[in-house]
Amino acid sequence: MGILGKLFYFKSNGNFKRSKEWEQELNKCIRCGYCYELCPLFKSNNWESDTPRGKLLLIYGMITGEIKPTQEIVEKIFQCFYCKNCSDNCSAGVPVTDILTDAKADLIEAGFEVEGTIVKIDEDLCSVCGICVPLCKYEALSIDEKDEDNKKIVVDKVECRGCGLCVAACPSGAISQKEGCEITLPELHEKVKEILSEGEKKLIVFACNWSLFPGMQLSESPTLIKTPYGVIVSMCSGRVAPELVLNAFDEGAWGVMVAGCPPEECDHDGNYKTRRRLVLLKNVLKELNIEPKRIRLEWFSTGESAKLERTIDDFVKELEKMGPIKKMNVSKVIGG
Ligand code: FES
Repeated sequence: MGILGKLFYFKSNGNFKRSKEWEQELNKCIRCGYCYELCPLFKSNNWESDTPRGKLLLIYGMITGEIKPTQEIVEKIFQCFYCKNCSDNCSAGVPVTDILTDAKADLIEAGFEVEGTIVKIDEDLCSVCGICVPLCKYEALSIDEKDEDNKKIVVDKVECRGCGLCVAACPSGAISQKEGCEITLPELHEKVKEILSEGEKKLIVFACNWSLFPGMQLSESPTLIKTPYGVIVSMCSGRVAPELVLNAFDEGAWGVMVAGCPPEECDHDGNYKTRRRLVLLKNVLKELNIEPKRIRLEWFSTGESAKLERTIDDFVKELEKMGPIKKMNVSKVIGG
């Protein structure tokens, strides 16, 4: 690379000072692949560059100068839900998510604009009510009050973990995330529809990735075999917006179960919000003449897949006794 090239490289890419601190840790990665077995992003995209080890390799290339960061690479680095399955399962003990956070900070400093899996605010829809701000445990949301007449919610792109709690809680639907990672409301609605269109499914289970999904995958249980239920994985039970539940009923579900981490174990502090939300939803169901017990909230710790199967079986039996619900018009309830 010539002098001009180096100058351009430095100007456009920054100096990766934070990421360089991790060089030794990056060298520890032996590419064993344990990290991606439980990576939700790899599961939906299937590219090596979506795996945690692929991202570490890209970061290593950037700090050594062998790889020039492009917008595409930067987008990959910003796609992470911080479920930490990779860090927890790394056979070499590499703190993958900590490295990713520092790489994100370096790339923002270098001037890159990114979407990743972080949330974005539609300023035309946002009324700056501020409900989202205290919800975020990572303090990634704040109100910019510099201009008194034009206050706005701003997102700290390094701190946002993409859990979607704020998306589910925003009363004006002003917060969203990028399509393509199976996390947006339309994508989740589509999944619900797809599952229920098979005809034999009665129950939709929204399962928190963090506590539950690893256990389910490891135990070879149940999403692939024919079951009377379908499982949709979300990043936190707090992401399950009320309209998702009502939409599932509207599409023909007999019941909905939200499976989250037990109190004190939710990494985003989202399960308490879910509990409150589902109490309110049960009241809405009563108003619609639908048995509130068609909604269940259950807690599962990591790896409790046997308990999950038992709980689901039990719920399916109860739903079979109740039978299908009368067709309801959810759009009347959620104003769609
Ligand atoms: Fe599991 Fe929030 S991370 S319920």
